[in-house]
Amino acid sequence: MSPVIVRTVDELRKKVRGLRDHGRTIGFVPTMGALHEGHLSLVRAAKADGHATIVSIFVNPTQFNDPKDLEKYPRNEAADVALLAPLDVAIVFAPTVDQMYVDGFSTKVSVTGISEVLCGATRPGHFDGVATIVSKLLLQALPDAAYFGQKDYQQLAVIDRVVADLNIPTEIVGCPILREVDGLAMSSRNVRLSSAGRQAAPVLLTTLKDAATKIAGGADISTTIDEAQKTILGAGFSNIDYLELRANADLAKLSRFDRPARLFVAAFLDGVRLIDNLEIGDA
Ligand code: PAF
Repeated sequence: MSPVIVRTVDELRKKVRGLRDHGRTIGFVPTMGALHEGHLSLVRAAKADGHATIVSIFVNPTQFNDPKDLEKYPRNEAADVALLAPLDVAIVFAPTVDQMYVDGFSTKVSVTGISEVLCGATRPGHFDGVATIVSKLLLQALPDAAYFGQKDYQQLAVIDRVVADLNIPTEIVGCPILREVDGLAMSSRNVRLSSAGRQAAPVLLTTLKDAATKIAGGADISTTIDEAQKTILGAGFSNIDYLELRANADLAKLSRFDRPARLFVAAFLDGVRLIDNLEIGDA
């Protein structure tokens, strides 16, 4: 059944009240559209937890530090809604920019520390934009639980922090990364890769796996990372934003593997910025 499409915050709140009046709990999946199996797995997780599910589709301008990236971001609401239809989604919340950022909008949610490393170091303002829009969405829908993919592990850490710090009464659920059969992490940006780029892209995961195995076996971190960077650049990536070992808990950069940690990578291929991460021990 096709989901109800809602464009305004008032209408969203009314519909959520209606669902709650019928005894339903609410699971929320925030997205920027261009949906793929990764997003659908979040919807399935919300449904498996027994919630009536709301999916938001909103390409949030404040989290794009590069206007060209915002312009090129794929948008196809009709295709997104068609993908959601078989999943029995209760509501698609697809507001306009004016609805989310009203005239005179001047508030920003900003998380220090964990927002400033990795993607935050090269994408100034990105996590302020994410923290602000996710806070707004959660306060608008007040869901019981909200679902995010671990591909954006840093984003998930930032959102966990916001929800704890601002006492937002929503459980944040991190879901496993969904991958193509060749290992490339699913992303709305993958469609922008050339066919040669698409063939080269899985080297990100194979390299992370190889490095993670070496690190788990006690290899020197800096040598392992240097080698991994060479492999990625050798496969056709034009540059690497970061390839680092960081602690799961607080994203502290590690030069020794002495606590639960993962490798994080962001690198450019065909002008497309791809990110991935792998827990040491998962290789
Ligand atoms: O991960 C995304 O698609 C976005 O950053 C999010 C969480 C929907 C906020 O705009």
